[in-house]
Amino acid sequence: MATLRKPSVGDGRLQVKKLALIGAGKLGEGLLAGVLRSGFVPPARVEVTVAHAERAEQLAEKYGVRAHTSNARAVAGADLVILALKPQQVKGFLHEARPHLGKQALVISAAASVTTALIERQLGHAARVIRAMPNTPCLIRHGMTALAPGRHATPENVETAREIFSSMGRVVVVDEKHMDAITGLSASGPAYVYLIIESLAEAGVKLGLPRDLSTELSAQTLLGASALVLETGEHPAKLKDVVTTPAGCTIDGLLELEEGGLRVTLIKAVVRAAERAKQLVENQNT
Ligand SMILES: NC(=O)c1ccc[n+]([C@@H]2O[C@H](COP(=O)([O-])OP(=O)(O)OC[C@H]3O[C@@H](n4cnc5c(N)ncnc54)[C@H](OP(=O)(O)O)[C@@H]3O)[C@@H](O)[C@H]2O)c1
Repeated sequence: MATLRKPSVGDGRLQVKKLALIGAGKLGEGLLAGVLRSGFVPPARVEVTVAHAERAEQLAEKYGVRAHTSNARAVAGADLVILALKPQQVKGFLHEARPHLGKQALVISAAASVTTALIERQLGHAARVIRAMPNTPCLIRHGMTALAPGRHATPENVETAREIFSSMGRVVVVDEKHMDAITGLSASGPAYVYLIIESLAEAGVKLGLPRDLSTELSAQTLLGASALVLETGEHPAKLKDVVTTPAGCTIDGLLELEEGGLRVTLIKAVVRAAERAKQLVENQNT
């Protein structure tokens, strides 16, 4: 199923004649910056669309790309289309783009809850579609992106998508049936982690530490512990045991966490978010 891969910069195999990035909001602008930073596609070959002309002007000035509000113009001649629209905007876009989009173009959609089947159906041909579920740390190259290829995506298409998102962090390729779980875990996950960082920092404040110091200690602790899991490949329980000296301090802290139900609460949080993702998929795709 999933493959774990360290972040790596593209190996230069990516050949894109024209990239159309549809929707450059919070996520889309991050993807645009990532693609340009990685050097896969020069700005002259990138066309970006948004809903508002003033926003287009800002993006054109900031990134040196062509930016406007015409999706039909953007997708014409594009061999790569990245969708970073809100889910409810996708059907309208596909209707608009359909007559202008080349049959061989690769469409990578980062719109939550929109299936590859829906995009294929709306485009009305054997469209090459890949669904991507990134998360916000992609903005600083520490992201986690899951890719799910549609029925007609080729292995080369998957490699193209992998190369793009690898420039923003880790990438896994999964079966699309796992996308709801992934939405609840790694796409929503940064929000849960911020709550944990904030709570640990509050604990430091309670114990008399200055807030900024406490936040730094807390955030770096999560970063370091996470890196140890990924770099050693060890089971987290084993790494926890290393910290937990018999009759030491950590075991007392762990007892409090178990009594407070942290483990069950986190499991339930992810399950609830995944259920909501499934519900949104059903609403979007009927
Ligand atoms: N944020 C995350 O952590 C995250 C993670 C994974 C996936 N996603 C998915 O990414 C998608 C975008 O989310 P977001 O938070 O980036 O939303 P957002 O900030 O609202 O961005 C939407 C963008 O789409 C543009 N737009 C609206 N209608 C358009 C149209 N018809 N044609 C072209 N552009 C249009 C908007 O233009 P204006 O700027 O002019 O209004 C805006 O730039 C969503 O489907 C979300 O589920 C987000």
